[in-house]
Amino acid sequence: MTADEILALLQTDEGRRAPYPLYERLHELGPVSLTPASTAYAAVANGYAAVDQILRDPRFVKGGPPPGPDADPVSTALGNSMMFRTEPDHGRMRRAFHQAFTPRRVAELEPEIVALTDSLLDRLGVLGADGPVDFIAEFGYLLPAGVMSALLGIPAPDLEWFRTRVQRVEDYLDFGGRTVEKVAAANEAAVEMSAYYQQLIADRRVAPGNDLISGLVQVIDSGDSVLTDEELVGNLLVLFNASFVTTINLLGNALPPLLERPSLVKALAADPVVAEACVEEVLRWDGTAQVVVRTASEDLSVGGVTIPEGGLVLVILGAANRDPARFPSPEVFDAERADKRHITFGAGAYFCIGAVLARAEGRLALPRLFQRFPELALAGAPVQSAGFALRGFATMPVTLT
Ligand code: HEM
Repeated sequence: MTADEILALLQTDEGRRAPYPLYERLHELGPVSLTPASTAYAAVANGYAAVDQILRDPRFVKGGPPPGPDADPVSTALGNSMMFRTEPDHGRMRRAFHQAFTPRRVAELEPEIVALTDSLLDRLGVLGADGPVDFIAEFGYLLPAGVMSALLGIPAPDLEWFRTRVQRVEDYLDFGGRTVEKVAAANEAAVEMSAYYQQLIADRRVAPGNDLISGLVQVIDSGDSVLTDEELVGNLLVLFNASFVTTINLLGNALPPLLERPSLVKALAADPVVAEACVEEVLRWDGTAQVVVRTASEDLSVGGVTIPEGGLVLVILGAANRDPARFPSPEVFDAERADKRHITFGAGAYFCIGAVLARAEGRLALPRLFQRFPELALAGAPVQSAGFALRGFATMPVTLT
């Protein structure tokens, strides 16, 4: 099979459900493969070293110029965020967030993560007392949503309203399948969420709290960082999207491999070091962020091939994490493997700013889940969600006892 045939298969329903055998075929072709001019991508990168090199090389560009006046609302909002901009705008926006979204702020959130986990587990216990319950809807989604609400200072009752809108933007962002209806729904969601954030920013300016938005407003108003209110809104929109589905999927993707290993579950419930190791191995073995994209700004050599100037590169993080040249027996889930340094949070200038928070959620929630429900088991086959860029489960029926 050629690289473009594999790419086409990866974007079918079956390929989205089971990408790993296809990644193996890509590795057989080499760390980077060029694709014919007729395909959307000039190259696909799957080898760990090549993926790492691309992400750390600023000549492989991510993002673009600021959105023009005619851009539709969703592209305007996203285009005003760090995630979709080139330097120097990207670095300027990222610095503002680093000033407010500090490791200390995440550490301060930890007691809230614990308390929220415990109350959600109480609720799960009630819902699952007489039969199966959907782990994704009733726990996997509610924990990251609650944590983001605490981080941003969004009132809990507004979260359901957010969920549907965040999902519409997510559907728009996913590779392929962008229909007229999806674009319209994402535009409407972007307008509504932008208005919501503008109001929240105005409120926090008058009455600051202990949340991230208040912190960002203070950083901006003190003149320490230059960020317009429009950029703040765009970044908040992206922050919720970047944090939300990814972390739901981290919790969901953890269950199938763990439930096949009862002794590991026992160890995880008792030992925070094992819990941390399991979170890292879940992120490597079935990472929630599978692909990112870069553009070669000049002819660039990587992994033995030269990607032509202007060529779009599909960078497959999920394949790099299963590169046999980097990880021995990469298909084996092994929480004890010596080297678990996956690339699921990216690398280089765009490295995930929420990695510490996502890891904290996994490390704190999973032991509590299994301490409370040591008999937790799958009650049927979990249903994979449709995404290609983000991998996870839409539903996962479990029994608790
Ligand atoms: C398991 C959970 C998560 C995964 C797998 C993940 C993955 C990623 C990846 C791969 C990137 C880099 C994209 C690229 O290079 O093109 C990224 C960027 C980003 N992530 Fe995460 N993320 C997760 C959770 C979070 C959380 C919890 C937050 C916020 C609280 C967050 C906020 C961001 C932001 C703002 C960026 C853009 C950084 C930039 O443009 O400089 N992520 N994430």
